Amino acid sequence: MWVGVQIEESLPSTNAFLADRATTDGRSGLVVIAEYQSEGRGRLDRSWVSPPRAGLTLSALVRPYDVAASRWPWIALAAGLAVGAALRHTAGVEAVLKWPNDVLVGERKVAGVLVERVESGPFPPAAVIGIGLNVSLGEEELPGPQATSLAIERASTTDRSVLARSMLRALENVLGDWQRSGGDAERGLLAAYTQACSTIGQRVRVTVPGDREFEGEAVAVDAVGRLVVRTAAGQRVVGAGDVVHVRSLT
Ligand code: BTN
Repeated sequence: MWVGVQIEESLPSTNAFLADRATTDGRSGLVVIAEYQSEGRGRLDRSWVSPPRAGLTLSALVRPYDVAASRWPWIALAAGLAVGAALRHTAGVEAVLKWPNDVLVGERKVAGVLVERVESGPFPPAAVIGIGLNVSLGEEELPGPQATSLAIERASTTDRSVLARSMLRALENVLGDWQRSGGDAERGLLAAYTQACSTIGQRVRVTVPGDREFEGEAVAVDAVGRLVVRTAAGQRVVGAGDVVHVRSLT
């Protein structure tokens, strides 16, 4: 699935780099890793900041042209699932997912995923999968108390090459299976995601675009990857938003 891994000393953003490259190179499977990002992007217009060489900042470009665009939101969930699986197998940490694709150890975030769809000039659309993993950061280097790193969690390895290889292998497995199923998450991915997602069954506070908030119990993820939340006013289905596990705040 991967056609080569390019390593750069410094980039503004590995996602921006591949989104740009997608307009001149029609291949699927490009991968870039930066030792440092000066303008790393996060979900919901946030930034992703990490000191040089203390994290793994990686982007991979895929072109699943045989999967309907309506099913592409699953790429973001699949990527989180793959990162969690790689960290459990290779680093020996109990990684779980917070919907849609934050990777947590306990309740602290060790990795984040940002997937961006790019219309790439003469070529079919692409998805750029960006992964930021906190590897050797100490407490004082973290963006806040809700974050953690593999070193803090006493992972069995903090070797970034080993971790990158493991994540790419896991991504290839999860995305490959999903693509072979025609993008139908109900043929395996939804069940695997549901099992790995610690949000389900928890009381959550959800902020949806427009800064509106509500609380309820997360009961499921549906066939298109949205979070289903039971609230006092009935069931709500969330396609995009920020979730806080309320139980972990008490
Ligand atoms: C999030 O949790 O908000 C998502 C963070 C994604 C960060 C990664 S680092 C590699 C790639 N390049 C970027 O600019 N962002 C993603």
